[in-house]
Amino acid sequence: MIKFDNVTKTYGNVTALKDLTLEIHKGEFVSLVGQSGAGKSTLIRLIIGEERPDTGRILIDDIDVAHIRRADIPYLRRKIGVVFQDIKLLPNRTAYENVAFAMEVAEDKNPTVKREVPKILELVGLAEKADSFPNEMSGGEKQRVAIARALAHKPVLLLADEPTGNLDSINAWDIIQLLIKINKTGTTVILATHAKDLVNSIKKRVVTIEKGQIVYDQEKGKYVL
Ligand SMILES: Nc1ncnc2c1ncn2[C@@H]1O[C@H](COP(=O)(O)OP(=O)(O)OP(=O)(O)O)[C@@H](O)[C@H]1O
Ligand SMILES: [Mg+2]
Repeated sequence: MIKFDNVTKTYGNVTALKDLTLEIHKGEFVSLVGQSGAGKSTLIRLIIGEERPDTGRILIDDIDVAHIRRADIPYLRRKIGVVFQDIKLLPNRTAYENVAFAMEVAEDKNPTVKREVPKILELVGLAEKADSFPNEMSGGEKQRVAIARALAHKPVLLLADEPTGNLDSINAWDIIQLLIKINKTGTTVILATHAKDLVNSIKKRVVTIEKGQIVYDQEKGKYVL
């Protein structure tokens, strides 16, 4: 489903990713770990077409993201849900409205929205917070709304960039459990984080990046370099 072939990405004279090759299959749960500046967020930005590689090829299903036309990016984004560390919910909208807003059918009286939003809030464990505003929710709850919002258009791929960064360890673990649950429904999940302890307890594939290169891929069980 995702294929990076010898991808290099530089920002000026900084090499963020160096000749990186990586394949992720449909339905996998992959944790991407590495120190600050290793290149995790860059890899995620390349997947969603927010950045372009200098060289190499990136395929998401049949889409060549390295050469995607701007006009085709919305089509790509429809396949992908993204969650970031800084949550950015709409402050004057309830949990329900934040999720409804992310559904492309927008209008919240639409029967699809009325049927689907409660299901998604239920999935993330926030059914009873549907009418709460962001300032009435905890950090963990807000992150759940952000995940619900990312799931609103039923993505086949969920990208989570440091989603637990602002949470205490209990809330962080709850978010990880939620990502695992979402993965079990068939959604491919990529989790970028420097929380190695958290990742080790997930017991799924772990790809370690250092200075823009993959130095360890736990699933293959061997050092690449
Ligand atoms: N827009 C940019 N302009 C210039 N340099 C950038 C830009 N974005 C990232 N970089 C650099 O590219 C390298 C990789 O950054 P990236 O954000 O991908 O790392 P990261 O692994 O996500 O780090 P963190 O754990 O701190 O989020 C770093 O050296 C960073 O300073
Ligand atoms: Mg980052």
